[in-house]
Amino acid sequence: MIDDITAARDDALAAVANAENPDAISAVETTTLGKRGRLATLKTQLGTLDTIDAKREAGRALNDAVTEVTAAVERRRDALRAADDAARIESERIDLTETTSRPTRGHRHLVTQAWERLEDVFVGLGFQVAEGPEVESDWFNFEALNMGEHHPARNEFDTLFTDHVPPGGRPGSAVLRTHTSPVQIRTMLDDEPPIYIVAPGRVFRRDTPDATHLPVFHQIEGLVVDEGISMAHLAGTIEAFTKAFFGSDFTSRLRPSYFPFTEPSAEFDIRTPRGDWLELGGCGMVHPNVLRHGGIDPERWSGFAFGFGIDRMSKERHGVVDIREMFTDDIRFVEQF
Ligand code: PHE
Repeated sequence: MIDDITAARDDALAAVANAENPDAISAVETTTLGKRGRLATLKTQLGTLDTIDAKREAGRALNDAVTEVTAAVERRRDALRAADDAARIESERIDLTETTSRPTRGHRHLVTQAWERLEDVFVGLGFQVAEGPEVESDWFNFEALNMGEHHPARNEFDTLFTDHVPPGGRPGSAVLRTHTSPVQIRTMLDDEPPIYIVAPGRVFRRDTPDATHLPVFHQIEGLVVDEGISMAHLAGTIEAFTKAFFGSDFTSRLRPSYFPFTEPSAEFDIRTPRGDWLELGGCGMVHPNVLRHGGIDPERWSGFAFGFGIDRMSKERHGVVDIREMFTDDIRFVEQF
């Protein structure tokens, strides 16, 4: 009997030691410790032993065997589980120091690139950089720029209004600025001439987006107020800017036009080395009414102003077909620049 118990125990311990998975362990449990297992079967045979001592000895051996096998089963289960965890952790491990290629560097948005280069070029020509708010009052955006309440030119600017009613203002008098020209007035009110500023910034118009229009876009405004400023200074500045920004093989021209805030007014075009003309923006001599609204005496001072679209310029420069592409953040588009 004792030999049978020892044999059952040793077989079970060997099987547990060799078990490679939880099912193999469970199988040993059933065949050795289970209700019909080898040890349970031996237990039912205790009664066949002759002496009390023999029964007691065999009983103790049986209990020890059960304890030993149970402990071995538990230890083996723990070991398998630990090995399993280790394997999973290893397989899920990511070595952050081991990348196949260096992370690629991003770059500034096309419009930001153009904006910053424009600032650099104008600063190089002696201008300072000014700015104004994007939510503007009707007065700064229109009235002070010689566009009274019923001026037909207002229709040219498809204006977006805000619900905000400024202190002392009437409903509908707070607008999203439709151009950067209100910065002309703010600068004149803040600073004494001589004034040489450019004001890049975001502007808004109620436009349906298409290949050449977006309701949110960017302009750069220029304003010069000094003694004896003439149209020649305007044309010379536009030409100097054209060569500095686009290259010495580019030239510019002015074409007569109309803006309420400049008189005379012109549009300016850039000629590429291939001979194509590119319409860039508007300009002109600051209207005396505008100087007056800026607190400047038009008898003593004169000035010129210009304004053009940054997005448009960037689009042309990079040969982008649809301006909307520039704002979709599609990596396949962005990576090309
Ligand atoms: N503000 C004008 C526009 O948005 C451009 C402009 C600026 C024209 C300054 C003349 C002088 O169309």
